[in-house]
Amino acid sequence: MVLDVAVEAAREAGIYLKSSVGKVKHVETKQGEVRNMVSEIDRGSEQIIINRIRRHFPSHAILAEESGALDTSAEYRWVIDPLDGTTNFLHSVPIYSVTIGVERKGEIVAGVVYDPNLDELFTAEKGSGAYLNGERMAVSQTPELIHSLLVTGFPYDAWTASDNNLDHFNYFSRRTQGVRRLGAAALDLCYVAAGRLEGFWELSLNAWDVAAGGLIAEQAGATVTSLSGEAVYLRPPVSILAAPPALHPLILAGLRESAGAASSKKS
Ligand code: IPD
Ligand code: CA
Ligand code: CA
Repeated sequence: MVLDVAVEAAREAGIYLKSSVGKVKHVETKQGEVRNMVSEIDRGSEQIIINRIRRHFPSHAILAEESGALDTSAEYRWVIDPLDGTTNFLHSVPIYSVTIGVERKGEIVAGVVYDPNLDELFTAEKGSGAYLNGERMAVSQTPELIHSLLVTGFPYDAWTASDNNLDHFNYFSRRTQGVRRLGAAALDLCYVAAGRLEGFWELSLNAWDVAAGGLIAEQAGATVTSLSGEAVYLRPPVSILAAPPALHPLILAGLRESAGAASSKKS
């Protein structure tokens, strides 16, 4: 079963990541961005995952952050981020995960996010609910924004791009119990699934950041859309809002309101 192989791969890669903290030899930057870093550990983790998939499913396609698209035409495609939270990892901050989504005919059908530091394994299959270490998860029932704790993230080019998310961050910081910035999008989504946080939004992501976590949040009862409210959120440019059904429309409205505030301020 694809989920079993995804779980084995995520656990093996996660243990490798945890044992590699503080042992990084070579850090490079990506896409000319000084904050967007990669090391031999990201690549090592990816190789562990790809080797395991290839052993079980040699004909499946793969989209992996560090290797790109491999064997593009197949019924199944594995969407992999071998280390989500690279900046945290490189600073020995224990907030990072391995995240693997499995797509069948263009639809994510299984997802795994593994946090090796807390030994938390988040899993979901389409139509079968979402689980944390085998226990069923459900999103928060909090009905109001003021009692909600949200989470967001910022792209690596946030300080040079025009749309840097700071207006949304400012808006929700004043209207909620707080807005966290954990630095690991897949875990952000899993924390919404587990009911620890009430909502997650982010702009300028990639499919591998949210393929597994999006399904996990959905299967725990969250409404998951793009930032413009569309049900399809994996098409580039990837943006995402995941929140319980009662809060999703409130957050979406707030995102629209704060985007309006940003453009009127700029003009
Ligand atoms: C990043 C993390 C971070 C998010 C960035 C992502 P990486 O992934 O998920 O939380 O804010 O947009 O690129 O580079 O650590 O795999
Ligand atoms: Ca990532
Ligand atoms: Ca990564």
